[in-house]
Amino acid sequence: MTQSRNFQSHGVTGVLDQPKAEPCLLVIFGASGDLTKRLLMPAFYNLVCDGLLSENFAIVGTAMDPLTTESFREKMSVDIKQFSTRVEFDPKQWDSLCSRLYYTPGKFDEDAAFVRLAELLKTLDAQYKTGGKVLFYMATPPSVFGLISSQLEKAGLNDTSVGWKRIIVEKPFGTDLDSAIALNREILKYWKEEQVFRIDHYLGKETVQNIIAFRFSNGMFEPLWNRNYIDHIQFSVAESVGVEGRGGYYDRSGVLRDMLQNHMFQMLAYLCMEPPASFAPEAVRNEKAKILSAVRMMDTPDLVRRNTVRGQYGPGTGPDGKPAPGYREEPSVPPESRTETFLAMRLFIDNWRWHGVPIYLRSGKRLWKRGTEIIVQLKSAPDFLFHGTGVDSLDPNRLVFHIQPDQGIELQFQAKTPGPHMSLQKVNMRFDYGESFTASRGTGYEVLTYNCMNGDATLFSRTDLVETAWRIVQPLLDLWKTEPVEFPNYPAGTWGPKASFDLIERDGRKWADVLSRETLKKIPLFQGADGVLLGSLVMALKPVVFQAEELVIQKGEMGRALYIIARGEVDVLGEAGEVVATLGEGTFFGEISLLLSSPRMATVRAKSFCDLFLLDKSDFTRVLRERPQFLKSVMEIATSRYNVAVQPDAILEEES
Ligand code: NDP
Ligand code: BG6
Repeated sequence: MTQSRNFQSHGVTGVLDQPKAEPCLLVIFGASGDLTKRLLMPAFYNLVCDGLLSENFAIVGTAMDPLTTESFREKMSVDIKQFSTRVEFDPKQWDSLCSRLYYTPGKFDEDAAFVRLAELLKTLDAQYKTGGKVLFYMATPPSVFGLISSQLEKAGLNDTSVGWKRIIVEKPFGTDLDSAIALNREILKYWKEEQVFRIDHYLGKETVQNIIAFRFSNGMFEPLWNRNYIDHIQFSVAESVGVEGRGGYYDRSGVLRDMLQNHMFQMLAYLCMEPPASFAPEAVRNEKAKILSAVRMMDTPDLVRRNTVRGQYGPGTGPDGKPAPGYREEPSVPPESRTETFLAMRLFIDNWRWHGVPIYLRSGKRLWKRGTEIIVQLKSAPDFLFHGTGVDSLDPNRLVFHIQPDQGIELQFQAKTPGPHMSLQKVNMRFDYGESFTASRGTGYEVLTYNCMNGDATLFSRTDLVETAWRIVQPLLDLWKTEPVEFPNYPAGTWGPKASFDLIERDGRKWADVLSRETLKKIPLFQGADGVLLGSLVMALKPVVFQAEELVIQKGEMGRALYIIARGEVDVLGEAGEVVATLGEGTFFGEISLLLSSPRMATVRAKSFCDLFLLDKSDFTRVLRERPQFLKSVMEIATSRYNVAVQPDAILEEES
């Protein structure tokens, strides 16, 4: 049992106290593919550099590609330079791995290919003294997982009389509940459950493994980890890229199968499961399976409709700021495709700990940023103490797990702003991986393959977990097959469909998007702002989305917020509903009613799909009070727009 290894980093500090992986041969099916060059080979290279691979170890690649051992070594030597995650490339270490790479071509439905493979393994076992231990890695399309398992059995390659034999099965494990059950049945016909390692690369991420370490090694949070203190939880996995040439695969998958059913449910299980009795693999896997089986089923179409929102991106902007095609224009995607590239979902866990606590999940491609975050929002403190002090409401505390690319944990809470008034501002305490650890960044596959070689299945999925995860999402798949949908419904490069904001706002909550200072610096109003101002705005601004033609502000209402346009345009309407001005990206509106504490003077309507930042009146006032420069620019713009005299002191005094 190697439980202590799971939670260590793969760098200078992690290496010293870790034993090497067990001697074995590793066979990669699909060795000429993308996964092998981008993630697997860099992971083995990292393990070699960290001294974690045995000298009694070699890799055999196999695929249809008619490569030879020589040409495979040459190809991998070129690819590693592109995909290595280490700051400096060490040719010596690479050579020591490269000289242990072998290749045998073959089709998986060809029996002779497996006979050739068996012969090569016999030779290498004698040469490398691996004691008959072999790990088979299925880095292939899922359609051939079953075929490979049966071919291995036919060729006698699952014989454990001399040395263990294990298989790693890549995701996606099935395409729905029935196919996952059938695939499990097929694999388990030839292999025992303890030989099967179903991989999910999210469990290889240090920040994901750290969820368990954080929860169970700190006495401070666990007493709060339940329905009495936690208001709700949000999981967001945003990707700014599109389908990256994988349209053929993606169109049969969609975000539900590609991200939610596996990666996101794994994170959810870690965050919400009960403390296991130990870190023994079965103890952890039991708790993960138990928590997923407590998820409330959406067993009527109406429940699916009420708790989920699907989206598909249309043409828009890519992360480089250049025009990006819509999903239906991507290569290998049919022009009428109904595949979802975005999903937001609300679910509940019916157990004693979580009953009544909504859990919101969302993930999508071609969103405005790349970022995976988990937000645990606690219930607000009672605010009666502050009545009459100028503090309107108390923001709830939040614990934010920054999974990637930003890696860390942040606690958000309120502090008194310096000065004679009682005024509060949201502030934070942060732990950053980069500041605390020297470990080099890996691919996530290091810890997974290392643990598998040592027979530790903690980070891998058991049959029951995989099937339970499919059971939860099956009602969505069933309904979506027949229910028409209006796609595309969000432009590339935006915050996703408006309906996903409605989903959470119906419950009186908001998506807590994690903004960065860099995002704010792009907005003209904040250019030149110092770090302190940006830091406080990052926590105060709330993203909201409006569809074209939707009203953002209605004349006559009391203003409660300022709006800043991140993307899109709005029209300001005159008395007769005529457009008197159009405002674009980087500008703001809604300030005059806040400055004068008077009703809104004009109606504002979204001209196109709009992503807006909302700044509550209390935060707006605080910023004005603290930042004379910001106050000056807002006043100048307000005066030029409305030709009214604004007394800044009025608003500042009123608020204090
Ligand atoms: P690729 O399509 O790039 O590679 C597939 C490999 O399988 C190729 O080497 C191909 O050989 C081989 N192959 C396919 N069918 C046969 C067959 N009948 N006989 C022999 N060889 C065959 O896929 P990826 O590498 O991207 O993905 C592999 C798996 O990893 C998938 O399950 C995917 O979901 C999973 N995955 C991939 C990730 C990635 O970033 N790429 C990330 C996480 C998971 P040849 O080239 O000779 O045709
Ligand atoms: C893969 C999905 O499993 O995970 C991809 O197939 C997705 O579509 C990727 O982009 C995301 O992984 P990561 O580690 O970049 O978050």
